[in-house]
Amino acid sequence: MAKKHILIVPGDGIGQEVTEVGKKVLEKIAAKFGHDFTYDEALIGHVAIEATGDPLPAETLEKMKASDAVLFGAVGHPKYDNDPSAKVRPEQGLLKMRKELGLYANLRPIKLFDELLSASSIKPEILKGADILFFRELTGDIYFGEKGRKNNGDTAYDVAEYSRYEVERIGRKAFEAARTRKKHLVSVDKANVLESSRLWREEIQKLALEYPDVTVEYQFVDATAMLLIKDPKRFDVVVTANLFGDILTDEASQIAGSMGMLASASIGDGTGVYEPIHGSAHDITGKGLANPMASVLSAALLLDISFGMKAESEVVINAVDQVLKKGFRTGDIADATTDKSMILGTDAIGEEILKLI
Ligand code: NAD
Ligand code: IPM
Ligand code: MN
Repeated sequence: MAKKHILIVPGDGIGQEVTEVGKKVLEKIAAKFGHDFTYDEALIGHVAIEATGDPLPAETLEKMKASDAVLFGAVGHPKYDNDPSAKVRPEQGLLKMRKELGLYANLRPIKLFDELLSASSIKPEILKGADILFFRELTGDIYFGEKGRKNNGDTAYDVAEYSRYEVERIGRKAFEAARTRKKHLVSVDKANVLESSRLWREEIQKLALEYPDVTVEYQFVDATAMLLIKDPKRFDVVVTANLFGDILTDEASQIAGSMGMLASASIGDGTGVYEPIHGSAHDITGKGLANPMASVLSAALLLDISFGMKAESEVVINAVDQVLKKGFRTGDIADATTDKSMILGTDAIGEEILKLI
C-alpha cells in the first residue's frame, strides 16, 4: 500500500470534463490495489483568471509543489483566442507552471491501439505497428525567449534560444529511453537555417558518442512532418525542440486516430504533471462529447512514472484497450463502420473503462 497526494487541475473547457474521468480512474485503482490516494483541486487558466485575475495563482503553484503528482486538463478560452491584444491569457498559466516546476521533458507516446486502425485517415497497412515516443523539450525555445514589439509596435519578435545544458538534459532522457526500446533515435531540428538548431545538433552528436548502441538519425523538421505520415513505423524515439514538438505531436495524433487518445507526461526535477496533448476544445465543450481516454492514459502515465506503479498503469491501459475491443467509441474515433449505438459520451465511456478496472 502506498500513500500519495494527487493534485487535480482540470482547467478550462473539456479539461473539466475529461479530468473528472481521469480522477475516477485513479480512485478505482487505489481501491483495487489498496493504495491511499488523497486529492486536492486547484485553478489554472481562464477559470483562474475569472476567480483571481491570475492564470496561475500562487496557491495553485504551492499545491503543485506540495503534491506527489498533478493530473492536468487543459487551458484556453475563445475570448482570448480571438483577442490578440489581451495581456493576461490562460496559456500563460500553463507555461509558467512548466517553467516553475522545471518540467523540461514532455513525453508524448504515440501508440496505436489495433482496434483504431480504421479510425485514422492514414491507410491501415501504413499504420499497423506504429509506436513512437516523442521527447518534446518543454521549457525553452521560442516559447520562452525574449519577445516584444518594436518600430512603434509595427514589428513583433520572439527569440528562439537554447543553451547546451538544455539540449543535453532532454537529449540524455531520449537516448536513455531509446536504449530500452528499439535503440533508434531521430533528432529533429532545422539546422540548415537556425543557429539554435545547429547548437541542438552539436549537442546530440556529442551525446551520441556516449550511446554507441543507439542509432541516431538527424532530420529537418519539414522532412519529419512528411515522413510521419508516409511511414510512421520508421520512427521509434524522437527528440525535438519545444515548438517543433508541439506541432509534430498534433500531427502524429492522427497516427493514433485522434487527439483524444494522446496522453503526455511532463517531467523534470520535481512534481510530474500528466496531461492530454489536446486543448480545451471549445467547439465541443459542455456537450459531453469529449473523448476522456487521453486523460485516462495520462493517469496511467502518472501511476507508472511518478509512482512506479507499473502493474496499476497496465490495468488502466488494458481497460482502455478492452473498451475499444468491445466496440465502444466516442465520436472522434468512430468511423463509417461503427454501430451508432456504440458511440458514447464522455461519462458513459468513462463508466465502461471503470467497469474493467
Ligand atoms: P484543441 O486540442 O482544443 O482542439 C482541436 C480539435 O480537436 C477540435 O476540433 C476538438 O474538438 C478536437 N478534440 C480535442 N480534444 C478532443 C477530445 N478529447 N475528444 C474529442 N475531440 C477532441 O485545439 P484548438 O482548438 O487549437 O485550441 C482550443 C484552445 O485550447 C485554445 O485556447 C488553445 O490555446 C488551447 N490549448 C490548450 C492546450 C493545453 O492546455 N495543453 C493544448 C492545446 C490547445
Ligand atoms: C500544448 C499546447 C500549449 C503549447 C499551448 C496551449 C501553450 O498547445 O500543451 O501542446 O503550445 O505547449
Ligand atoms: Mn499543442
